[in-house]
Amino acid sequence: MSRGAVVGFVGLLGLSGCNAHVEDTRPGQPVKTRQVAFQEILKVFEPMGVMLRTNNYEPDRFAALAAELTVKREHPWAHFSADTNYPPTKAEEAVWTQADEFERKKQAFIAATEQLDAAAKTKTMEVASKAYFEVYDTCKSCHSQFKKR
Ligand code: HEC
Repeated sequence: MSRGAVVGFVGLLGLSGCNAHVEDTRPGQPVKTRQVAFQEILKVFEPMGVMLRTNNYEPDRFAALAAELTVKREHPWAHFSADTNYPPTKAEEAVWTQADEFERKKQAFIAATEQLDAAAKTKTMEVASKAYFEVYDTCKSCHSQFKKR
């Protein structure tokens, strides 16, 4: 995979900023834990995008990644409890002040990943691709409202 494709992808999701130098010192490290959970989501999501963008669709590998995403998608959310808006978080205050809207965005993402899993099982690139970019839009839509750049 080309480095350029990866950087472009990450840039589009507004993931360029990095607070890695700030430690999460709270017990259980809720901020760090949810950030790692999002990185784990990206690790399965990104290779699917690279396959599509570079025209190297591998149906079986794509389907395995889509299935893995239905597991990883569950992990960040429990770590957004009420008192966890502190450095090094990149979450916007709105996560807590507009919790209903955050929940709606989360549900849209879960539903889209469900569709992607089903679409990937068809092993048809057009079907898989359409579902993939619908998930992508749900990442972007939540980030634009709830994640700092
Ligand atoms: C419902 C909202 C929501 C959805 C959907 C969502 N994210 Fe995020 N994401 C966030 C928030 C909020 C943060 C900031 C977490 C923090 O720093 O406390 C974040 C952070 C991240 C990070 C940075 C983690 C770090 O190291 O700081 C990555 C990578 C990421 N998301 C990838 C994705 C991808 C890929 C998708 C879709 C497949 C996605 N996210 C879907 C809300 C969302």
